[in-house]
Amino acid sequence: MTKMLRLLPVFLAIAVPASAQQVTFAKDIAPILQRSCQGCHRPGQMAPMSMLTFQDVRPWARSIKQRVTERTMPPWGIDSHVGLQSFKNDPTLRQDEVDNIVKWIAATAPLSNMADTPKPREFDDADRWHIGKPDLVVTSPKHIVPAEASDWWGSYYVETGLTEDRYIKAIESKPGNTAVVHHLLTYAVDADMTGDSNGDDSNGDAGDFLNEFAVGKNGDLFPEGTGRLLKAGSKIKFDFHYHSVGTEQSDRSQLGIVLYPKGYTPKHVVYSKQLGQPTEPLDIPGGSTYVRSDV
Ligand code: HEC
Repeated sequence: MTKMLRLLPVFLAIAVPASAQQVTFAKDIAPILQRSCQGCHRPGQMAPMSMLTFQDVRPWARSIKQRVTERTMPPWGIDSHVGLQSFKNDPTLRQDEVDNIVKWIAATAPLSNMADTPKPREFDDADRWHIGKPDLVVTSPKHIVPAEASDWWGSYYVETGLTEDRYIKAIESKPGNTAVVHHLLTYAVDADMTGDSNGDDSNGDAGDFLNEFAVGKNGDLFPEGTGRLLKAGSKIKFDFHYHSVGTEQSDRSQLGIVLYPKGYTPKHVVYSKQLGQPTEPLDIPGGSTYVRSDV
């Protein structure tokens, strides 16, 4: 008798109808795609195909399984075996979500009940500033990207018109034409700077790094009391990588900046130093803390 009772729960688990356990697009998969994939996989964005609907997604099922199990999608460059693992807005999939995608595809990717499909995700207008309304907008000159050409790495220098030192509260580099702007780096440079660094930001003349646009980046919002310095009279250097796409295109990109009030100095001043420069190796022994005091 005792033996029978022990077996009972196991028997019940097996007896649950397969349909009740089935992983379906509407119930299980769509919410994952909404949260972690559609930011890039939708019309007008940089990823190759849309993942807004079942019809969009179904033909890509096998490829999706491959990319999520090898963990190359969604892109997330953090090593999952070392250091900090907890980040705001981390788009990576939990193991049970990856397992559900694998199960869904093994069951030949059913849609199931349409009524289970979550409400479509609403996306921000691509033209809006993610940092709020900027106090200062600097625009790069018009650049024509030919239909067919080698990729173009080059710089434009534009005045800010700033007459006093100010601290940056939030900053966003916004491409005018996402079809051709592969990425865009912005720097603050001295007023007399001209010329073309040809995209080489590894030398000391590159200027003070401000911000980068690259796929999936929306801008930097510094916590209260933290900011970057923008010196009076400095110019903005736009460092572009443009990519031809088969038709002639033009671009004018923008740098938007929200400033702290005049005269305000934040407690923490942010600066960036690019690592991996050939002239300046940085060797940090494992487990140690590195503080550089000469900058
Ligand atoms: C930050 C933007 C971004 C996000 C978020 C993202 N993708 Fe992608 N995805 C891309 C880009 C860009 C490519 C094309 C380059 C490549 O293949 O790596 C791509 C390619 C793919 C491909 C290969 C398509 C092919 O040609 O075979 C698959 C499959 C895919 N993504 C699935 C996903 C899934 C599933 C998610 C969410 C779990 C996701 N992606 C999230 C940007 C993104």
